[in-house]
Amino acid sequence: MEKVILTGDRPTGKLHLGHFVGSLKRRVDLQNSGEFDRIFIMIADAQALTDNADNPEKIRQNIIEVALDYLSVGLDPEKSTIFIQSQVPQLCELAFYYMNLVTVQRLQRNPTVKSEIQMRGFSDSEDDETQNKKGIPVGFFTYPISQASDITAFKATVVPVGIDQAPMIEQTREIVHKFNAVYGDTLVMPTMQLPENSVCCRLPGTDGKAKMSKSLGNCIYLSDTTKEIKKKVNSMFTDPGHLQIDDPGKVEGNVVFTYLDAFCTDEHFAKYLPEYPNLDAMKEHYRRGGLGDGTCKKFLFNILEDILQPIRERRAYYEQNIPLVYEILEKGSEKAREVAASTLDDVRKAMKINYFDDKALIEEHTRKFKK
Ligand code: TRP
Repeated sequence: MEKVILTGDRPTGKLHLGHFVGSLKRRVDLQNSGEFDRIFIMIADAQALTDNADNPEKIRQNIIEVALDYLSVGLDPEKSTIFIQSQVPQLCELAFYYMNLVTVQRLQRNPTVKSEIQMRGFSDSEDDETQNKKGIPVGFFTYPISQASDITAFKATVVPVGIDQAPMIEQTREIVHKFNAVYGDTLVMPTMQLPENSVCCRLPGTDGKAKMSKSLGNCIYLSDTTKEIKKKVNSMFTDPGHLQIDDPGKVEGNVVFTYLDAFCTDEHFAKYLPEYPNLDAMKEHYRRGGLGDGTCKKFLFNILEDILQPIRERRAYYEQNIPLVYEILEKGSEKAREVAASTLDDVRKAMKINYFDDKALIEEHTRKFKK
């Protein structure tokens, strides 16, 4: 069987280092591994609209930002099909049929949907007016079903995502199972692939708070300049008890070390901090006392610059060639449409709603009504 990847992001903002370690870097590695027959990377604008009904222009403006981020981290349109969700209408059609295979109760139990309802301040009771809260948009409520269409339309076998997406993949698997049980073996069962490194699942913001998030203003963006990186690294949360260089320091909860865990390699030590063979030795010195935050931050800055510089250069190239980026998206969307249309042919056949191609049906009815 073909090995196919599908994954994507909602275009609600520029991508940051959290996205890079959590998903982008792995996508590029998977792309370059040559292990996959096809790779589809989707900009999920239609899904983004499910909870941004008030601000469609934000989504429209961020499609290009996400596309630039993709291309600048090294996703290669020759190897990976990058496309825009809304340009593949077959996805809506599939979702419409899948809706009959999922109950309202099952959607209500989806943990990600549940927590997003809380986060967005949607009312989950029936009398939303009295609570003065907005009700839940139907499109938002059903987006797990639409995500099942995204995955199955491309016959994806592997879906690389973060842990927050696990309930969506589970839901997709249930839909595939149900569809195949009702209509015969048609859809491909996908599996989820989580990031290996636990730091990479949840890179904290520069302030040490939970996750990097635009609203908290604690992000390092892939498009940040050298000056911005320097400023952000210098303002990073460390160990508030580590006042003097000689004081013993904590590395747990110390953002500089969390980032070093996520990004540094032994080669970085050889290049920038040869007094230590590796991160364990450096941590040991910090714990003991005698290693200043300034040195650690300088080291982290150098590492981030090493990673971000080539990304910045590719971004600069594509920023000066925006029509080319749109052309890449258009070609990708065209290819995605072809693949989705072919899956839809299979689905219609399996559901026996391909009436006009169904000679047997026409014959059967000819006989039935013939006098
Ligand atoms: N839900 C994903 C996110 O919020 C985006 C997405 C839409 C997606 N459809 C998908 C991811 C299909 C993987 C597979 O980032």
